Amino acid sequence: MSNVKIAGIGAYLPSLVVTNDRISELVETNDEWIVQRTGVSERRISEGENTSDIATKAAEIALERAGVDAKDLELIIVATISPDMFIPSVACLVQSNLDADKAACFDISVACSGFVYALEIAKGLMNSMNYKNALVVGAEVLSKVTDWTDRGTCILFGDGGGAAVLKQSDEVGLIKSYLRSDGKKGDALTIGAADIDTPFSKEKVLKDRVIKMNGREVLRFAVSAIFDGVNEVVKNTNISLDEVKYIVPHQANYRIIKSAAEKLKLGEDKFYLNLDKVGNTSSASVPIVLNEMYEKGLLKKGDKIILVAFGGGLTYGSTLLEW
Ligand SMILES: CC(C)(COP(=O)(O)OP(=O)(O)OC[C@H]1O[C@@H](n2cnc3c(N)ncnc32)[C@H](O)[C@@H]1OP(=O)(O)O)[C@@H](O)C(=O)NCCC(=O)NCCS
Repeated sequence: MSNVKIAGIGAYLPSLVVTNDRISELVETNDEWIVQRTGVSERRISEGENTSDIATKAAEIALERAGVDAKDLELIIVATISPDMFIPSVACLVQSNLDADKAACFDISVACSGFVYALEIAKGLMNSMNYKNALVVGAEVLSKVTDWTDRGTCILFGDGGGAAVLKQSDEVGLIKSYLRSDGKKGDALTIGAADIDTPFSKEKVLKDRVIKMNGREVLRFAVSAIFDGVNEVVKNTNISLDEVKYIVPHQANYRIIKSAAEKLKLGEDKFYLNLDKVGNTSSASVPIVLNEMYEKGLLKKGDKIILVAFGGGLTYGSTLLEW
């Protein structure tokens, strides 16, 4: 098995900043409540850019930083729960935008855990198919599947995209992943798709095409998902949590991360957060944070990092990597 390393990272956020005060013009809430319960102060919202536009912009930055020409890309995976349409996949739209004509392309639907899953899928395919490189993107326009009248959800989410270019490498990169799901708890966080209402359907099956969430249940699940994800990914390795410089969690809610840090008996400063400015961008959240850390010069070659994410499905997962 050859090593697979992140060779370039990029992110793109829509320019419109939507503050908590602006949200409180739409639903009965206020800045203080939102900050106290979630840690989110503002988020970026698309004014019309779709998921593939955002994914393409993030990908262009990652490709440039990796020194990879899009024409040489062999694989594109986009993790998203807010695709432009059912078909083509966002990955195929990105392929077309980038002229990445050689790449195999597909989307995965793993909600907020999508980027972590996609890294491991890409690594597996790079090994089995001998692909020299891969583009992995997490991109979302959640604003189009948000119920802007539901104060329990519309305060949480934001739009954006992040991308990583992976390369086969002589150096250690992605070390180990831990991927799990709990489909029985799926009802806690849903977005409906097309209705069943055909000349053949016995009865109509109609779904809400917006985010529906049992916040309390997701909160409980998320804390134990981080705890398991972080512990399991170092288990049976010779790497201790002390050697891990940063834990990069899915940016859902400050309270979740604070509780998980306490449960793990780790300082909160080990967890890098940017949710106050970005909100929960689902599959885009982890690569957006990684990109911010990269741009701030926080990631040094050889640093050990754990990515950990959880979300709809319910799904969760973690990746231990060396930068
Ligand atoms: C959504 C969330 C912030 C709600 O916080 P909470 O502490 O669980 O609050 P509750 O839903 O129990 O509601 C408490 C009260 O605040 C009210 N409330 C809910 N949203 C509100 C808002 N935006 N502004 C003001 N009040 C609000 C409720 O109506 C309720 O009022 P009541 O006591 O009079 O019935 C929290 O459950 C959460 O963050 N869950 C995890 C969600 C998540 O991260 N999902 C994505 C995972 S990938």
